[in-house]
Amino acid sequence: MSDIQTQFVKNVLSGAEQNLKDAGSAFAPSNIALSKYWGKRDAELNLPINSSLSVSLGNLGTQTEIRLAEKSSVYLNGELVDPADSFAVRTLEFLKLFPMVGTHFEVRTENNIPTAAGLASSASGFAALVMALNDLAGWALGPRMLSMLARLGSGSASRSLSHGFVQWHAGTADDGTDSFSERIDTEWSEFRIGILELSTARKAVGSRDGMNRTVETSALYKSWPAQADADFQVIRRAIEVKDFPMLGKTAERNALSMHATMMSAWPPLIYLQPESIEMIHKVQRLRDAGLELYLTIDAGPNIKLLFLESSVKEVLSEFPHLQIIKPFA
Ligand code: DP6
Repeated sequence: MSDIQTQFVKNVLSGAEQNLKDAGSAFAPSNIALSKYWGKRDAELNLPINSSLSVSLGNLGTQTEIRLAEKSSVYLNGELVDPADSFAVRTLEFLKLFPMVGTHFEVRTENNIPTAAGLASSASGFAALVMALNDLAGWALGPRMLSMLARLGSGSASRSLSHGFVQWHAGTADDGTDSFSERIDTEWSEFRIGILELSTARKAVGSRDGMNRTVETSALYKSWPAQADADFQVIRRAIEVKDFPMLGKTAERNALSMHATMMSAWPPLIYLQPESIEMIHKVQRLRDAGLELYLTIDAGPNIKLLFLESSVKEVLSEFPHLQIIKPFA
């Protein structure tokens, strides 16, 4: 928590009236970026170097309940979290930005996705927390304002306020007021995401440290901002015209380019495991054989497959344990 963050929160809340309730609750979906956010231009306000675009994961995400309490406590999936655990520390540090609501909170969070396995639970976590807080405080903020508050908790959380496709505008202002997310008004009911969970282990280096290390030490990172911006535009267009191969190809190349910048950092960041590489090759083989199948990967070993409804049968015969998500169901 810093003065700059406190001032930013005050600015965002300046037009809102507070009508405190006994408790607030909310659900936020997790999201997977099709064009990735990797690198910050301002760590305090959590401003990204490049814009990014994601698709929300429907009913996979986080349900959070919050109330004022005598003493702060955080529960995750029904169990009290050790106050020294990074999850509790991050949650309670974030809530210190909101003294106008209260000093101590009881937070109860249920995740139906593995925590910190590259499936973006911090995204749905901070989005649900901000929405639950908005409910508790009765501010009645819209998704744009909520996305800027969630951003302070975790960048990808700013994209978890809405269902469907969401774009996070990097913005250019130093005060962070033009860096927000909004829903893209396109439904694509045939769009499918397959989660290939290869490992649920916590990653050794979190996204935050990983991206800072990449920005500071990777020579390849110099080419990333321009590519990320170009990919963002192409994917937005592909969604608009529903060009699936254009979307898939751009998303896959974007993810692998991000991993190339990570690997060229020092010390190197290698989130991929042998099983991840095996799956990348398998997807390429299937695509060469005519299947319209693409993939994306975040800062972890798990692979997310991208395909359309028309390919479900074939995809399932190749990946029988695949968890299939219908983002527009
Ligand atoms: C690889 O949003 O977790 O998933 O803002 O530091 O909390 P912080 O980082 P975070 O980074 C997400 C990185 C990514 C790509 C993406 O979701 O766009």
